[in-house]
Amino acid sequence: MPPTPSRPHCLASFPGPVTAFIAGASRGIGLAFVRRLAVGGQARRIWAACRDPEAAAALCGLAAEYRAVRILPLEITDESSHAAAAGIVAAEGEPLNLVINCAGLLHRAGGPMPERRLAEVRADWLLEAFAVNGAGPLLLAKHLEPMLPRRDRAVFASLSARVGSIGDNRLGGWYAYRGSKAAQNMFLRTLSIELVRRARGAVCVVLHPGTTDTDLSRPFQGGVPRHKLFGPDRAVDQLLRVIDGLSPRDNGRFIAWNGEPIPW
Ligand SMILES: NC(=O)c1ccc[n+]([C@@H]2O[C@H](COP(=O)([O-])OP(=O)(O)OC[C@H]3O[C@@H](n4cnc5c(N)ncnc54)[C@H](OP(=O)(O)O)[C@@H]3O)[C@@H](O)[C@H]2O)c1
Repeated sequence: MPPTPSRPHCLASFPGPVTAFIAGASRGIGLAFVRRLAVGGQARRIWAACRDPEAAAALCGLAAEYRAVRILPLEITDESSHAAAAGIVAAEGEPLNLVINCAGLLHRAGGPMPERRLAEVRADWLLEAFAVNGAGPLLLAKHLEPMLPRRDRAVFASLSARVGSIGDNRLGGWYAYRGSKAAQNMFLRTLSIELVRRARGAVCVVLHPGTTDTDLSRPFQGGVPRHKLFGPDRAVDQLLRVIDGLSPRDNGRFIAWNGEPIPW
């Protein structure tokens, strides 16, 4: 088991302090990314996007404490919301060299839980999961791509999940989540091929954070051994280490928190 890092990982592979955009920043892993980048001082600007800034108390606290943090509204399923957020980022005129999408959906409080069997599949839930987990990251890329540097290093990463791997699927179930994450994986793999034609220093990856103690995983942590359940700060430090180690050869890969490749 790797030791828990005590200090935020420093992004030494970038030429200087990064300009970062974190989607899904209201809570969970996205909030931890904003906190780790702000505390570590590795970012000159951290755009922290979430769909309801007024409800994101912890994020507002970070923005009050750290001048680098700017909160933006972003509903990831709504293209006009992407356009508005991108317009605000573009107006500042700083290229984005680190984009991390952490918005994702497995279940909703009081709403549907992941399907255990075919009879539990629902059309509305399949489409909602697809809109958030599948289309969301691709729309984000569409609207932020013009702000990526044309030559310098940039990373566009989106949090997927190992259960979105088709090759690794041995248990079945979780149709909406598995299928929508598999869609995300295909979208980002396709994006990775196009992206580097214009942003020559870009590396586009999908990342699996490992089971992390957040609202998303909480109902399913029962069978997870303690040493395999990461706190959000630890998960983020591990992912920042992976991001920092990415080279152009990693473009278009599906990578786990420990740097190991995951089959598609
Ligand atoms: N935690 C794990 O064990 C684990 C394991 C594998 C993969 N992942 C992946 O890692 C990512 C982050 O997960 P997490 O554990 O941090 O989940 P979380 O604590 O449930 O946070 C989910 C985030 O996504 C945002 N979001 C959901 N729907 C959205 C929408 N329509 N528009 C904009 N934002 C939306 C939420 O915003 P609101 O606050 O507004 O709802 C929240 O910020 C997800 O993609 C998840 O699939 C997590």
